[in-house]
Amino acid sequence: MPSVDLGFEYRFVPAAGAAAGAPPFLLLHGTGGDEHDLLPLGQALAPGVALLSPRGKVLENGMPRFFRRLAEGVFDLRDLEARTHELADFIKTAREVHGLGDARPIAVGFSNGANIAAALLLLRPEVLGGAVLFRAMVPIEPATQPDLRGVPVFIGAGRRDGIASPGQTETLAALLEGAGAGVEVHWVDAGHGLTATDVAAAKTWLGRSGFVL
Ligand code: MLT
Repeated sequence: MPSVDLGFEYRFVPAAGAAAGAPPFLLLHGTGGDEHDLLPLGQALAPGVALLSPRGKVLENGMPRFFRRLAEGVFDLRDLEARTHELADFIKTAREVHGLGDARPIAVGFSNGANIAAALLLLRPEVLGGAVLFRAMVPIEPATQPDLRGVPVFIGAGRRDGIASPGQTETLAALLEGAGAGVEVHWVDAGHGLTATDVAAAKTWLGRSGFVL
């Protein structure tokens, strides 16, 4: 379905069949990706659920991202904060425009997309019903602790990831757990790239969490 003008380029795929009652998935691509990239992943993780997939609005040497960075792993925190609120507002409007119902979306983010999904959890905890974070870092330390009780989070981490390091994974998991989220960290013997093992583990977790039928 073509997107309407909600301030982001995005793809929306309506729910089909038995998945009509399940929460929609919010797909957030990595640096250099776009709104098309993660649609196959969303379909593999949760066949038939509604998919909302925006394109990040920041360009770094022509590559779309969800917020500015000053260097690898060094984030422009003012931009990150503003972009997180902008994305949260887009999600709210898109839910209304596309009639997505009461269930809050489940974010599925990879790398830069996982980082903005984590920022959504920390700065706008009312927006997401859960999240799958592949290769995420600590995006920001929130000034006030969010209330994430009842929000399940899966973190897919690579033991040899030189960007989202194991230490970053553990700090992020502790931050989310401290805010009340139910966090499961799944380690794979891999680097920053996504593997079939990550996807299979996330799929199992989504089923266990009741997010897919
Ligand atoms: C980021 O900038 O969000 C992370 O370093 C991941 C990346 O996009 O490479």
